[in-house]
Amino acid sequence: MFLSIRAAWACTCIVKRTLSSFPVIKSQLDINSSRFHDNVARTRGVALEIQTAIESARAGGGTRALERHVKANKKLFVRDRLKLLLDPNAPFLELSQLAGHEMPYGDVKGAGLITGIGQIEGRMCFINANDATVKAGSMFPVSVKKQLRGQEIALQNQLPVVNLVDSGGAFLPLQAEIFPDSEHGGKTFANLATLSSKGIPVVTIVCGSCTAGAAYIPTMSQEAIIVKSIGSLYLGGPPLVKASTGEEVSSEDLGGADVHCSISGCTDHYATNEEEALAITRNIVATFGEDKSPFSHADSDPPCYSADELLGLAHYPGSSSKYPALEVIARIVDGSKFQEFKPKYGPELITGYAKLYGQVVGVIANNGEMAPDAASKGSQFVQICNSRGIPLIFLCDVVDRCYSCNEDTISSDVHKSGLAIKAQAQMIHTVSLAQVPRITIVVGDSFGPTSFAMCSRSLSPNFLFLWPNARIGAVRPEEVQSSSEDDGLCKLNQQCSSLHATSRVWDDGIILPQQTRQVLHLSLTAAQYPYRPMGNTGMTRTRAVMRM
Ligand code: COA
Repeated sequence: MFLSIRAAWACTCIVKRTLSSFPVIKSQLDINSSRFHDNVARTRGVALEIQTAIESARAGGGTRALERHVKANKKLFVRDRLKLLLDPNAPFLELSQLAGHEMPYGDVKGAGLITGIGQIEGRMCFINANDATVKAGSMFPVSVKKQLRGQEIALQNQLPVVNLVDSGGAFLPLQAEIFPDSEHGGKTFANLATLSSKGIPVVTIVCGSCTAGAAYIPTMSQEAIIVKSIGSLYLGGPPLVKASTGEEVSSEDLGGADVHCSISGCTDHYATNEEEALAITRNIVATFGEDKSPFSHADSDPPCYSADELLGLAHYPGSSSKYPALEVIARIVDGSKFQEFKPKYGPELITGYAKLYGQVVGVIANNGEMAPDAASKGSQFVQICNSRGIPLIFLCDVVDRCYSCNEDTISSDVHKSGLAIKAQAQMIHTVSLAQVPRITIVVGDSFGPTSFAMCSRSLSPNFLFLWPNARIGAVRPEEVQSSSEDDGLCKLNQQCSSLHATSRVWDDGIILPQQTRQVLHLSLTAAQYPYRPMGNTGMTRTRAVMRM
């Protein structure tokens, strides 16, 4: 599995609902065909490459750094911290695992931090934890991007946040790319203020270095815990103090647990070790109140067809035609049941109702080019779902065509070209303004402006995941083949790949096709159980009166 979803599915059935009598999709898939087998083999090949990269990212910063972390610094590894923090046997949806993969400035494993949605004391929380084995947890440009994306998820889905800070602050050689601009490091603090203004709790453990700007993270949190001996919090560390004043001071005396719990008030809870800090954090989260139904699901029918068959439904360039979108839907939704909306109108876009673990969802899936009727049907369906509070799932496999210049479509028909633009613009408008949870899975291609209508990243879906075969870009590489040099084309192919996209945090992670149903369920659950504060005055740590 790519995403760390622990196997808790079988035992979390709580609500039993009557299944709908939606019609069952009758699959026409020939799983013995050579085309299907070729596709399975190809997807397995790409998946293996991605799995290898994920394992490397999970291993962190290399043998020397791992040894140093434990032996010299006497700290727990970040994944061991998470084990102690999260509820045992509950799922953890880890996000953007391949952020930082082979960036121009180096291979930054996991971007030096772990983010994801997990359960603590029965409450869903967003977790943000530095991995100090990767350059002491210092923040590269992609680390900042991953951290900001995490805060965006917490804000959009109203999830309480737990930070585990263990970071050397800005990665100094790249400081110009992480400090000055609006979407750089300072935005982290603006987001903390916004979370506070909405009454969403943020709890921070200082379990390592918390230097320079990072010092504001615990200080701007609702509650902060600091660990004796290993936690330190200051704007400038001992070397800086020595350089500017000549004074020699230890890290503990300058900004350790005693200083901040007894004198500055920057932190609220004193922990003698990490295990205690994590236990205190769980106790704090226990005061948030219970979730209605975190990560639980109805006793629902699984799809009638094996999820493994989704491997063969992945679409690749060069294959003669795509499989019908209904084949994909049939392997994701409860009982493969689907009430299609307007099946005979605009069939290039499939729209309809289904259930996912008992929850009604609206499904929108590309089934060809986005012709005018298809786009206008899409708009209508989004409006209906929005008015009824039905979450939307987009299965994106869009090939954009320039209607006014492409020979094999309705090229010369300016009237139809205008109709397409108008209908697509309307769908982009409707999808942009829909207020229900929207989750996008790119199951194939996502090229050109039409992909916006399928709730691409710029339209702020709650979550967006890629299948390994997904490609994203302004134009399909094969369309520019004739006019490009070979190495230019190779670069374009690489830039459109799922690995390239996910390394830059243009999505929330690559998932295996057969994980789609579970990932959708986790994402939908996270989007639907927002934390609701009982009262809210915002929060500032004004009591931090310095007595030194
Ligand atoms: N920028 C760039 N590289 C950094 C860094 C930073 N802010 N902080 C640490 N690193 C690098 C180190 O150079 C070292 O690289 P190497 O493995 O190639 O030798 C690696 O991260 C590990 O750092 P190290 O100092 O050996 O780890 P440590 O556990 O002994 O100490 C810190 C950790 C955080 C206390 C220490 O690295 C430190 O003080 N860093 C600078 C903090 C700072 O002043 N930040 C201000 C940013 S605005």
